[in-house]
Formats: sequence, structure tokens, C-alpha cells
Amino acid sequence: MSLASSVMRMQMPRVTNLVAKRGGATGLMVHRDTKENNLNTKFKFSEDNEKRIKAILANYPEGHKVAALIPLLDLAQRQHGWLPITAMHEVARILEVPRMRAYEVATFYTMFNRQPVGKYFLQVCATTPCMLRGAETITETIEKKLGIHAGESTADGLFTLAEVECLGACVNAPMVQINDDYYEDLTPKDMEKIIDELKAGKQPMKGPYSGRLAAEPFGGLTSLKEKPTGPGYGLQAALK
Ligand code: FES
Repeated sequence: MSLASSVMRMQMPRVTNLVAKRGGATGLMVHRDTKENNLNTKFKFSEDNEKRIKAILANYPEGHKVAALIPLLDLAQRQHGWLPITAMHEVARILEVPRMRAYEVATFYTMFNRQPVGKYFLQVCATTPCMLRGAETITETIEKKLGIHAGESTADGLFTLAEVECLGACVNAPMVQINDDYYEDLTPKDMEKIIDELKAGKQPMKGPYSGRLAAEPFGGLTSLKEKPTGPGYGLQAALK
């Protein structure tokens, strides 16, 4: 066996594992029929959502309904909790586009969960800034506390854990997204508290756990310290 092929063989399981972990609840990028997700999975938009669809479609000019693909897939996911293949078909039917257009979008954007997720979907950012600030310890804390690994759900259906790429809150690393909310500047202790509160049916505090406001600097302001000069500053007198 050549050196290159033995290196590949050594790396293969790791890569496969990484894809599965990072794919998290979204899993494989191709559809495979499962008990919960197949052509017989029932999906129909609720009456309220039918009205929302009309309002969404009104945002786009005639002949450009396809632009509503993401909003409608999102609506389907919010209604169903995740996005079964039959929901994609329904969205494609409403928008009068080939089903493939819905598959393309749903498999490209990782916010679409093509497998069931728990009531609380914990997405731990594992990209470099969060990793450098301890994302691994956050993942380990969740794994230990809930007894699941990335890509798995708890037996009671309450929690699903996924490791994801940058969620755009790097300055508040490490951070976790739970459903639509961000929990930032986390320590393992904070993470345990958040899980305890969710288990108790409470809404944990959102945002930074470090005590700072949003993404303000820890050590006080380092720039933009002067009073703003206001309109007209620096203009020659004749132009004022
Ligand atoms: S690296 Fe974690 S939010 Fe950007």
C-alpha cells in the first residue's frame, strides 16, 4: 500500500465522522427514506401559514415566485419542527418550480433540518474563534450533561446537539445557538445552567454571559472615544 493510500485510509473515518457531526441534525446531504421522512410523511400548511404565504408572495413581482423559496421552506420548518421531503414538495408545488429547486436550497443551507430535531436545538459553533475560546469544553459539557453526542437527540425528544460552522457572533465566542436565540461568552458552568433552566421549562437569559453589553470591549473603549464632531466638521467656511 502506498503512503498516500494509507494516509487516505487513516483519514477516511475521521472525515466521515466530521461530516456526520457537522451535518448535525441535517445529516447527509442526500435524502434517504426513513420512518419519519418519506413520501408518505404528512405535511400541509396551516390556514394561518397559508395567509402568511400569500403575504410573502406579494413581496415579489409576477414571474419571480421562486424568490420565496427560502421564506416558504423556513415557514414549513417552523410549522413542522423540521423539514420533511413532503414539505419541500409542497413548497415547490406552491411556487410552481421543479422539486429539485427546493432540494438544492434545503441541502445547501444548514439551517434547514431534514431530520427531526428536539424541542431545543443546540448548535455549538466550532469554528476557529470559538474553538480558541473553549468551544470544545462547551460541547463536552453538553455531551456529559445530556448523554448525547453531536448529531444526536435525547430520548425524551427535548434536546438535539449539533456542531456547526461560524454563526457570526465570533466577538462573543464561545457561543451556542438554541433555536432562534444566541447565548454568548459562555463558560461550561453557564452552559450547565442554561440546560437546567430549559429542562425546568424556563427561558434562560439570552446574549452574553460575561456581563458586558452585546459586543462592547472588555477593557473599556479603545476607539471612538471623542465626542462626535457632527455635520459640517472640516468643511471650508465657504461651504458651511
Ligand atoms: S467562530 Fe463562533 S461565531 Fe464565529
